[in-house]
Amino acid sequence: MTTLPRLHLFEFHDQTWCPALLREAVTDCVNAAWTFTGFWRNAVPHVEDLLERTGERSILDLCSGSGGPAPRIVHALAGRMPELRVELSDLFPKPASVDALSPELRARVHYLEQPVDALAVPAEFAGLRTVFGAFHHFRPAEAIELLRSASGSGRPLAVFEFQRRTLLRSIIPPMGLVGLSPLVAHWTAPRRWWRPLLTAVPVIPALWAWDSFATIMRTYTPAELVGLAEQARAPGYRWEVREARGDGPERITCIAGFPDPRGGVELIEY
Ligand SMILES: C[S@@+](CC[C@H](N)C(=O)[O-])C[C@H]1O[C@@H](n2cnc3c(N)ncnc32)[C@H](O)[C@@H]1O
Repeated sequence: MTTLPRLHLFEFHDQTWCPALLREAVTDCVNAAWTFTGFWRNAVPHVEDLLERTGERSILDLCSGSGGPAPRIVHALAGRMPELRVELSDLFPKPASVDALSPELRARVHYLEQPVDALAVPAEFAGLRTVFGAFHHFRPAEAIELLRSASGSGRPLAVFEFQRRTLLRSIIPPMGLVGLSPLVAHWTAPRRWWRPLLTAVPVIPALWAWDSFATIMRTYTPAELVGLAEQARAPGYRWEVREARGDGPERITCIAGFPDPRGGVELIEY
């Protein structure tokens, strides 16, 4: 499988000059993609594993955008962990996005209104930290900093990406995803007057197509993730880079970090 060279291309929705409604439109598309591909389900066993290992029953989701998979995952685990709750957060928070969730999904979810920088998480936030579909936003030095802030404070962390930086696996199959997400967002995101207009023009599909391409080109390979985790080693803290071998709907990449006397960094393909 051809792995492409990593390029840290810009994404529109990362830029401070990007109008808030376009930023929201793009993160609504990411959220829609998680929902209709069902890839969020592949994260459930990893989240459950980290909650079980650490005894945590709260999640601080970083870089939540328009909500992402965390509310669905928490709902899926609620039967076994009824006290489980999640705080969503972002550098550009979109608290109104939870309004589009069904009441049973919303029951265990709160979206922090103040900006939370994933690179400077206030120490008072406890629980398991999660990052869905956003780790590629960070350059290597920042990515190491994000990992270190977890390992240095002994907080468990789970980072997930579902795209891969390969030609066949990632550039060609997402064509459908790029086409569909702006349409699915009409049902999965809050109603906005500008959405049908900017989808038809088509501003939203064009921005989403570019940001999706840039996302793929910025995604770290499992070997690169191991290299980043090596830089964030801490005594009594273990990193596992878990990579689903499959190409199909089961695929997901997870970096799991948790306190463990074994310590170390391991690549686990399953
Ligand atoms: C691709 S979106 C992913 C959103 C969501 N997690 C999901 O999977 O649907 C990336 C998000 O990361 C946020 N982000 C980028 N840099 C950040 C930072 N330093 N701290 C917190 N959030 C950040 C962006 O604002 C954006 O909402």
